[in-house]
Amino acid sequence: MPNAPATSPLAEQASTPTDTTRRTFIALGVGALGACYAGLIGYPVYQYLATPARKAAATGTVTQAVLDGADQLPAGSALMFKFGTAPAMLIHHTDGSWVAFGAVCTHLACTVNYEPEQSRIYCACHGGVYDPKTGANVAGPPPKPLTRYYVEVQDGRVLVSKA
Ligand code: FES
Repeated sequence: MPNAPATSPLAEQASTPTDTTRRTFIALGVGALGACYAGLIGYPVYQYLATPARKAAATGTVTQAVLDGADQLPAGSALMFKFGTAPAMLIHHTDGSWVAFGAVCTHLACTVNYEPEQSRIYCACHGGVYDPKTGANVAGPPPKPLTRYYVEVQDGRVLVSKA
């Protein structure tokens, strides 16, 4: 209190317009800092909680993926791509057939990989094995087949869509 004498107790309770303005400014500053702090803490928590629901919604609404140039995929190899936000794979088998699956393991959702030398789709998390022609779960803990997609090979691209 620069305007009040230091010895008067009543002077400490009195406020001037300058003190009120200063208090208002400090209160607004503290409020703004509190709002920033709440945002810093709250936004990551919101992202953590909202991401699975957002991913599910995005994957559910996507019905087709266009893979430009994928018609040139060599036989006996696979192409990993995103179907919506989820990993998926396109396989061009040596017999000329094409298949596409969701690459999310049906056990605990690890991403699976095509292993042409083993003639299998393999999940390294717990040793799950899928048939690369049908996506059927053939060994390990996966309880059901991979999601299979419809494949249409066109000149210059491959269309993958929900069957
Ligand atoms: S997550 Fe794939 S086998 Fe467990």
